Amino acid sequence: MISNSRQVTVNAAFLKEIKEDNLRLYNLMENLRTFWLVPDPLTLKPEWFSVLVNELRDQLAMHFALEATFGYFDHADQVDALTAAESQRLRDQHEDLYLEIASIAEQVEEALYPEWNQTTYAAQIERFDQFYQKFQQHESAEFDLIMSASYENFKRMYHSGVSSKADSARW
Ligand SMILES: [Fe+2]
Repeated sequence: MISNSRQVTVNAAFLKEIKEDNLRLYNLMENLRTFWLVPDPLTLKPEWFSVLVNELRDQLAMHFALEATFGYFDHADQVDALTAAESQRLRDQHEDLYLEIASIAEQVEEALYPEWNQTTYAAQIERFDQFYQKFQQHESAEFDLIMSASYENFKRMYHSGVSSKADSARW
């Protein structure tokens, strides 16, 4: 169902481009995941986890800001209700994801200083794994949104092409 009220929608081409350009973010995610796969502080130093998770937090702040600015837009005149609801949900999710990774980064620092706390550190590794799953689900839902918005655009262009050919045939 198409709604004419002003809502949020996705700019599929820009959102896709932002994702393709952000290899550093995806590399950081995978490097941090190894701390969950090899949960041994003697093999993978907790200080490295802290450095990487702080870098990830900063990268995500930039990534989400770019996506919110160029990947989504408000005031779309003709938006499918499902696309609008999903766009709103995913754009709002950026804040929750950012707050979660910022909290993990802060708690890791607390596990390291002033005294090493193994329990707090292990809990943050577990939290990171849950964060990783949530982030993957978010990315996957945004890719689905890009595909469905691109398909809707294609359909709209196709139908407007068909109707303009029909109009010109009439004349
Ligand atoms: Fe996103």
